[in-house]
Formats: sequence, structure tokens, C-alpha cells
Amino acid sequence: MMVRGAKLAGLGSYVPDRVLTNADLEKMVDTTDEWIVSHTGMKERHIAAPEQATSDLALMAAQRALDDAQLSAEDLDLVICATVTPDHMFPSTSSILQGRIGATRAGAFDLLIGCTGFLYALSVASGYVMAGLCNHVLVVAAETLSRIVNWEDRATCVLFGDGAGAAVVSPAKPGHGFLSFSLWSDGLNSHYLTLPAGGSRRPVSLQELEQKAHFLYMEGHEVFKLAVRGCPEVAEAAIKQAGLTNRDIDWAIMHQANKRIIDAAAKRLGLPESHVFCNVERYGNTSAASIPLALDDLYRAGELRNGQHLLLVAFGAGFSLAGSVLEWTK
Ligand code: UT7
Repeated sequence: MMVRGAKLAGLGSYVPDRVLTNADLEKMVDTTDEWIVSHTGMKERHIAAPEQATSDLALMAAQRALDDAQLSAEDLDLVICATVTPDHMFPSTSSILQGRIGATRAGAFDLLIGCTGFLYALSVASGYVMAGLCNHVLVVAAETLSRIVNWEDRATCVLFGDGAGAAVVSPAKPGHGFLSFSLWSDGLNSHYLTLPAGGSRRPVSLQELEQKAHFLYMEGHEVFKLAVRGCPEVAEAAIKQAGLTNRDIDWAIMHQANKRIIDAAAKRLGLPESHVFCNVERYGNTSAASIPLALDDLYRAGELRNGQHLLLVAFGAGFSLAGSVLEWTK
């Protein structure tokens, strides 16, 4: 007996209203629009209002995904939130979301991984659905990175934005929907991208605050090299696991961290530019939210057709990598 499949039954996304342009950043730190565009491809990003926390962004995206799936919150069996900027260390942001959205039958937990979080959460959700343990799982990736960025550090503050993307994962016919997941971790390189203080290793103290250790720390060029090497490898693994070849990929949607990384990975994979989606110019790097934001943009632009093969690729803190291939079916 073939196990049932799992598919994306609904998509939704949300970004806060406030737009921060490269021209705005020129007034804040020693940078230029030319540097940011040529090094990253970014032109603007969205920033949460002071009263907005991650669950507020998540709620908007989740409601849109449920509407798209034509389901109500009571239909959900599980809510998973991928975020490195939770409302609090605990309770989980997914519990807050589950309560606010009215998912009265659902369990809830967070996945704290980083930019690969959405793909890790999708793998968990599809596993539950394929095993018949759940029928409908809400996966939300939401970030308010503006809260952990050091706005005086030009090497990082120009890169990140806030936003949320959500997907409802539901049963599909066997052999349709998600075809593969490759989840990799390279923990010996975890020091290149970290939030040093605020955990058990370095609890928040006056000294940590003075050292600005409560802000995101990144050695960007090291992450760049790991990503350029790792993304094609994890993508190839996911494509192979799905029983396909690179030529079968209709759309590649990669973590939107840097246009140069996306272009380099696409070139190594031999994917034509017209098959590679990029919206980094509008949102910057929204960490876990970047892939669902891109997926939703592509979907709402009417570009996705039943039977197309989508390749999803992510990299980030950990150092973690993830790849997935799915057959679009709606
Ligand atoms: O989501 C996953 C996590 N993050 C990432 O994916 C980021 C991965 N890394 C990157 O995207 C790129 O490494 C960056 C965009 C962060 C940097 O690009 P790069 O080509 O690797 O530049 P670099 O770090 O080697 O820095 C080149 C120069 C340096 O100056 P010097 O030492 O050559 O004089 C930096 O100080 O650019 C300087 N620089 C800036 N200049 C103007 C760094 N940030 C800025 C800035 N404006 N904002």
C-alpha cells in the first residue's frame, strides 16, 4: 500500500507597511545604494511597527493561507512556527498563534533553526500528513529580524527585513505534492552566524549588552562561501531523491539572502535564469520567511501550474542546508 502524499493546499504571506530603502540606510550608516545593490541585489525591505511582534506578522500570513486553502482554523491538527525571533523565549510563538487564530483542536510547537526553518517545518508537516497522523498542518515562518539587528553595523543591518509566510500542508494523492527533503547540518561552522547572548551560554547581563552581544553576529563572507558551495549540493541531493534531473525543474525558489548566491547556485545547477525566482530586491533577507514569501509571490502572480516541479533550497545558521522538490498540485 502506498502512503498518501502531502501537498501545499494554501499559501499566504504578509509584510509590515513600513519600507526601508537603501537611500534611508545611507542616512543611518556608512553605506551606499550602489554597494548594497551590487553586493546583494537588495533595494528595500519592510520593517515591523514598534507594536508588531512576530506572532502579529504570523497571524496575518496564516489567515491568508487558511483562506487560500478554504479551511477554517478548527480544521487544523497542528501549528508549526519556524522563527529565530520569537515573541518570547517561551511560550512558543506557535502556541500564541494557535490561540489567536482559534485552532482549537491543534497542537503547536516552534522550530528554531534560522533561514532553513521553513523547509525543516515543511518536512515535519508532510511527515505527519503522509503518516496519517494529521490531516491539515499550518506551517508559518515569521521573523522580526529588525529587533536583533545592530543598526550601527553596516555589514549586517542593510541585509535583513521583517515578514511572514504561511502554508497549509494537506493530503495529496500518492506520488504527488512533496517528493523529497534533504536536510543537512554542519555544526562545526555554527560560529559564523549567531545571536551570542540571551541563551544559557551567555545570559543577558549589563556586560553582554555593552558588548552588543544581544545582536545578530555574522561573518558574511564565510557564510557566502558555505552557501555557494552547499546550495547546489543539497539541491542536487533533493532532485536525485525525487527521482528527477535538473532539467525537470520548472521553478527554483531559493533562500532570498543575496542575488549573487542565487545566481551562482543556479549557474552550477545549470538552471536557466527564467526558471529561478528572485524577490530579494523588495524584501531583503527575511530569514525563515523568505522562501514562503517568494512562493506566495510566484503563486499569486499566476505562475504555478499543476504538474510543475518546484525546487526549494535554503541555507543559514547552523550551518544548515535544506532542499526539497515538490510537484505543484492544487
Ligand atoms: O540568511 C543567511 C545568512 N546570511 C547571508 O546569507 C549572508 C551571506 N553573505 C553575503 O551575502 C555577503 O558576504 C555580504 C553581502 C554580507 C558581503 O558581501 P562580500 O562580497 O562578501 O563583502 P565582504 O564582506 O568581503 O566586504 C567587502 C567590503 C569590506 O571592506 P574592505 O575590507 O574591503 O575595505 C567591508 O567593510 O565591503 C565593506 N562593507 C560595506 N561597504 C559599504 C561591508 N558592508 C558594507 C556596507 N556598505 N553595507
